[in-house]
Amino acid sequence: MKLAMFGAGYVGLVTATCFAEMGNEVVCMDTDAAKVEALQQGRIPIYEPGLEDYVRRNLEENRLFFTTDLAEAVAHGLILLIAVGTPQDTDGSADLSAVLAVAREIGRHMNGYKVIVEKSTVPVGTALLVRQAVSEELRARGVEFEFDVVSNPEFLKEGTAVDDFMKPDRVVVGCDDVRVAELMKELYAPFVRTNHPIIIMDVVSAELTKYAANAFLATKISFINEIANICARTGADVDMVRRGIGSDPRIGNLFLFPGVGYGGSCFPKDMQALIHTARSRGYEPRILEAVEAVNLDQRRYFVEKVLDFFHGDVQDRVLAVWGLSFKPLTDDIREAPSLTIISRLLAAGARLQAYDPKAMPAVQAHLGEPPGLSYAPSGYAALQGAEALLIITEWTAFREPDFERMRSLMKNPVIFDGRNLYHPPKMAKLGFRYFPVGQKGE
Ligand SMILES: NC(=O)c1ccc[n+]([C@@H]2O[C@H](COP(=O)([O-])OP(=O)(O)OC[C@H]3O[C@@H](n4cnc5c(N)ncnc54)[C@H](O)[C@@H]3O)[C@@H](O)[C@H]2O)c1
Repeated sequence: MKLAMFGAGYVGLVTATCFAEMGNEVVCMDTDAAKVEALQQGRIPIYEPGLEDYVRRNLEENRLFFTTDLAEAVAHGLILLIAVGTPQDTDGSADLSAVLAVAREIGRHMNGYKVIVEKSTVPVGTALLVRQAVSEELRARGVEFEFDVVSNPEFLKEGTAVDDFMKPDRVVVGCDDVRVAELMKELYAPFVRTNHPIIIMDVVSAELTKYAANAFLATKISFINEIANICARTGADVDMVRRGIGSDPRIGNLFLFPGVGYGGSCFPKDMQALIHTARSRGYEPRILEAVEAVNLDQRRYFVEKVLDFFHGDVQDRVLAVWGLSFKPLTDDIREAPSLTIISRLLAAGARLQAYDPKAMPAVQAHLGEPPGLSYAPSGYAALQGAEALLIITEWTAFREPDFERMRSLMKNPVIFDGRNLYHPPKMAKLGFRYFPVGQKGE
């Protein structure tokens, strides 16, 4: 099939490439000329395991093309997929300006029937706005072409995005026309050969499904964080409690790890957008609001724990920070807890030596080198002379480090573990003062 993807970010690039991998001819358009130029040469601007090989192969085999020329992309595709960003607007709602800008451009350039697919996460009612935007442009041109608008939310996870897209648990398609549903089923058939379902529903339900999925996952995280906070005050061990409840299939073990709270490009903004949608329809979403509040507090508690340990005075104290991306296996730092934690500790006068396997360039671009923050070439280098180590992201390389070496490098063997990577009794034996989340430390 001939496809056009608008937006070559984490979602657009992965999905365009995977569609090409299945034999489709895909033109991927982005307004960022530098990004497009790099992609044309097979260099990918993000860290996503496995993606670069796929991009190169499909470029070489002439199934994947990158361009800044929107008209070219519109002319090429029968199916036009919109995967541009939908960041949080000032009132918490999703900012749809990029989505609607693409819709208008499609209206300005289309010359025949098109299926327009919302791949971006967009609130209920967006399909209608897309339809209006396209229709207005067609009217302004004095032409009439038929088109359909489909909601096809994306559930891939950064870090395992290629695998997630190639083998989805399910595909959700919201559309109001049987023939379009058949076309979308044909597009996704190669991805669901193991019989994972393609769930066809109305457009509005599909739009809401994505937000409901993210809200539920965010709720699981805040739930276990709340239980961890109760554990910390009662002497219970959240790791035991987590295992004790997770084996119940109604609860499940996934997404049940306490820590410094969720971040990333999706959960925080999607929670805000869903809260905004609910309120704008006259409903106060109490669970969602509590999930958000618990999440923000979780970062605050972590910083307070560090400050309390030093009796409120971290002025000029050297602290090591391991992990900056919002989760492992990505260089994405959007809404990463590390950014809040770093800003608060810098404001308190600490000197931070940070290390992350992939996200340091992104943090450097975002924060620069403010006084007090330096970037270390390795996890061990970050520990040099540190009075404590703060673990914020659970990269695998941090799971089984050389503790002897760590102790020899640090001024004080103190670890604040925001991801509960180690076994507290073992840490005590190794001579560390160890402070995990919701477990007894030292
Ligand atoms: N990142 C994820 O894990 C994930 C997962 C599921 C869904 N989503 C949703 O997918 C959407 C995209 O997210 P992302 O993380 O890929 O964003 P991103 O910021 O990585 O990528 C967006 C891309 O769109 C481009 N762009 C902006 N305006 C454009 C325009 N007018 N025309 C063409 N290109 C334009 C930008 O240059 C950028 O390359 C969002 O709605 C997000 O909520 C993201």
